[in-house]
Parts: sequence; structure tokens; C-alpha cells
Amino acid sequence: MNKIFITGVSGLLGQALVEMFLQNDFFVYGHYFQHQPEDQDNAKWLQGDLSSLKKIRNFLGRNQPDLSGCEFLINNYGPITIKDISALTADDYCHDFFHNVLTAIEITDFFIQQTRLRSVINIGFENIGKIMPYKKVLPYAIAKNALLLITKSHAETYQPIRFNLVSSVSLNGASEILKKNQTVSPRKVAREIFRIIGSNKSGLNIMIK
Ligand SMILES: NC(=O)c1ccc[n+]([C@@H]2O[C@H](COP(=O)([O-])OP(=O)(O)OC[C@H]3O[C@@H](n4cnc5c(N)ncnc54)[C@H](OP(=O)(O)O)[C@@H]3O)[C@@H](O)[C@H]2O)c1
Repeated sequence: MNKIFITGVSGLLGQALVEMFLQNDFFVYGHYFQHQPEDQDNAKWLQGDLSSLKKIRNFLGRNQPDLSGCEFLINNYGPITIKDISALTADDYCHDFFHNVLTAIEITDFFIQQTRLRSVINIGFENIGKIMPYKKVLPYAIAKNALLLITKSHAETYQPIRFNLVSSVSLNGASEILKKNQTVSPRKVAREIFRIIGSNKSGLNIMIK
């Protein structure tokens, strides 16, 4: 049975990802922070606070026996900060860079070193790859675009491991909707992620609307 580790499984996209991978005969190791999902066959929930490198390393260390069997990884955790540019401080940039980029790097490095990693999906956002001005989500946009560069660089460096980045417009049910007339169901995004993680493609930046 294929085994996958997914961060943030108690969130909107995370729940849809768990459902998609369980339906397709994966064993899912799912990370959550404060909201433990209900027990399910072929799933194990791993509690962890990912808010500092020390906490991430503790989380990875104590779950090493479970995680070392995973060949698939989805770095789904990645919070957004909504704030006018004029109100931003350096802390806001640090926050979004840490939570969207460093968490993914730290977890990915662990998997590269300690597992037989085959495929990784990182998660972007709707304007990924576009050079444009922002009014409300600048630190998040910077962080997600850094993640895109990292994804493409890892794809080149760590062949034959596959690294792809999947983005979407706002998810149905999200508390922050960037463009009101454009949303997508988490299930549709999860289905595309499932398709891409199993393909032989690497270094892709895929947008789902
Ligand atoms: N929402 C959107 O419209 C949208 C659009 C495009 C891209 N994305 C991207 O899609 C991905 C998933 O987003 P989402 O909206 O589905 O997320 P979400 O619903 O906001 O879920 C947040 C997740 O983060 C966990 N979490 C919160 N604080 C944490 C901490 N200190 N340490 C560890 N985990 C913590 C939560 O765990 P608990 O609930 O257990 O505390 C939960 O599982 C993200 O990368 C996001 O940037 C989202």
C-alpha cells in the first residue's frame, strides 16, 4: 500500500486530500494542530505545532518511524496573512515566509534524507508566477512565489524525485476569498493533486480553476 504524509489535514483542502487518497487505496499519515480528524481506516493522525523550527524538528523526530515509510508528501500547510501594505511590518514578512516556505523546506529535507521519497506536491495560490502589485497579501504572495522557485530547483536537483506545485483560485468555503466571483471546490483541487502526484512529470506549476 502506498503511504503519504499530508500537512494540515484538518483544514479545507486537507480534508478533501485525505478523502481522495483514502478512496484511492493510500495509507494516509495526516498532520493536524488543534482539530484532530475522526478516526478512519488506513489513516493515522499526527498532532504537531509547526510554528518554529524546533517544534517542526521535534514533530519529525518523534514521528520518524511512521514517516520513514512514506514515499509521497504534500506540503499543504500554508496560512495567508491579509493586511494592507501600509500596515505591514517585517514580522508579517517573516511570518508568511516561515509558515509557507521554511516549514515546507524543513519537512521536505527530512523526507529526502530519511525516506524513499518519490513525489512531492507544494501548494501555491491563484496569482503564482505573476509579477504584479499587491494591496493585501504581499508577504503571502512573496512566500508562495519563493516556494515555486524552490519546487523547480528541487525538481532539477533531486531527480528522480518528482516535485510539482499546484495552485488554485480561492477554495469554496474559505474564510478569505481573493476574487469573489471565482472559487473552486477543494475536491476538484484534491483530484488534480492526486493525478499529478502519481504522474512522471516534475517541475510543473499547475493552476486549477
Ligand atoms: N483557502 C484558499 O482559498 C486557498 C486558495 C489557494 C491556495 N490555498 C493554499 O492551500 C493550502 C491549504 O489551505 P486551506 O485554506 O485548506 O487551509 P485551512 O483550512 O486554513 O487549514 C489550516 C491548517 O493549518 C493547521 N494549522 C494552523 N496553525 C498551525 C500551527 N501553528 N502548526 C501546525 N498547523 C497549524 C490547521 O490545523 P488545526 O485546524 O488542527 O489547528 C489546519 O489543518 C495552503 O497552502 C493555502 O495557502 C488556499
